[in-house]
Amino acid sequence: MGFAQLSRGRSRRALALALCVWSLISLSCAARLTDSSRQKLDVQKHLNRLNKPAVKSIKSPDGDIIDCVPISQQAAFDHPYLKDHKIQMRPNYHPEGLFNENKVSEKTKERSNPQVQLWHANGRCPEDTIPVRRTREDDILRASSVKAYGRKKQRSIPKSADPDLANESGHQHAIVYVNGDKYYGAKATINVWEPKIQQPNEFSLSQLWILGGSFGEDLNSIEAGWQVSPDLYGDNNTRLFTYWTSDAYQATGCYNLLCSGFIQINSEIAMGASISPVSGLRGSQYDISILVWKDPKEGHWWMQFGNDYVLGYWPSFLFSYLADSASMIEWGGEVVNSEPDGQHTSTQMGSGRFPEEGFGKASYFRNIQVVDSSNNLKAPKGLGTFTEQSNCYDVQTGSNGDWGHYFYYGGPGKNPNCP
Ligand SMILES: *[C@@H]1O[C@H](CO)[C@@H](O)[C@H](O)[C@H]1NC(C)=O
Ligand SMILES: *[C@@H]1O[C@H](CO)[C@@H](O)[C@H](O)[C@H]1NC(C)=O
Repeated sequence: MGFAQLSRGRSRRALALALCVWSLISLSCAARLTDSSRQKLDVQKHLNRLNKPAVKSIKSPDGDIIDCVPISQQAAFDHPYLKDHKIQMRPNYHPEGLFNENKVSEKTKERSNPQVQLWHANGRCPEDTIPVRRTREDDILRASSVKAYGRKKQRSIPKSADPDLANESGHQHAIVYVNGDKYYGAKATINVWEPKIQQPNEFSLSQLWILGGSFGEDLNSIEAGWQVSPDLYGDNNTRLFTYWTSDAYQATGCYNLLCSGFIQINSEIAMGASISPVSGLRGSQYDISILVWKDPKEGHWWMQFGNDYVLGYWPSFLFSYLADSASMIEWGGEVVNSEPDGQHTSTQMGSGRFPEEGFGKASYFRNIQVVDSSNNLKAPKGLGTFTEQSNCYDVQTGSNGDWGHYFYYGGPGKNPNCP
């Protein structure tokens, strides 16, 4: 019996009360009634917080609804620290790169078509609005709680000094990293695939991490890339995403625009929207470029998608360590291995193929770069690699004139060597 129906008539309430009294022995009845009605209210309240009034709504072929929300009315401004924030419509500085993006070889030519988002097929948002993927009741109900919706589980630690912890969390990585310096940003061009997910509560993503602090309690992290996450989005599509936290995934941060934090200025790219097209085995290969950098003047962390879209920024005050600089950068893949039936999951990372299969089969990151203290993009020095179980998902680095520093990564998960 629903909450709305119950509150409509006194007699129904009396009946419910009588039922509760009658089953007082179990004690849980009254609690359950209030719990479910409270949850309904909480879900509705949260939907109202996330879905701001739109000047236009666009139905995407994948079923998403994209709301065009006036830039000044986005959910970010509900943050108490952002009440009087003067929105910045462009960064003060843009990192200078040594790498010539226009120099494309035969091999990369095919992949340099501009990536579009699926919803563009049915319209665009007007200027001075931002496209927001509408959150539905079902999206929130798939999460373990209203509070958990849009957030990583706490144990989602990208690279732990403690291998037991890395394993315990069920998260598996195949990554490349640099540390030991101060970093002011990172860039990568990431091959896009649609990995298969075995269990709806698992995910597969490919991203870069901008990290500060320690992996235990106070990790600051800015993350961006693509992901397949049935729990978060309700389907198996590959989607552009961002994430941030300033306390190791405990109380702060979220995916995309699912909490106050990231301020979007771009009217063309929606966070959490499907990327199309994706790469095919031995077929056309597609990739996306992501650049995240710190504006030396205001200290905000900006994000750019492709060569043309400056999406917006994470205000400096969200962070402690990252308010100054990052101490580590990571690039690569992560999946959740929930070990259904005690066996390794067959959720794929990247293309689902191992790195040694190379171009057209394995997924890659190319032209990985860091931003230094002079706001220059440069090749990362002293790259390390990390995987929990290289028989399940692996990584292989290389460098050449065309791709700069690159790596192939990923794998099928469960296989004879990864039972
Ligand atoms: C997602 O893929 C899994 C198999 O990989 C399939 O069982 C499931 O039905 C798919 N979900 C949707 C919403 O298409
Ligand atoms: C994680 O667990 C697997 C299987 O129990 C083991 O083979 C592997 O060495 C562990 N990884 C780390 C980094 O400890």
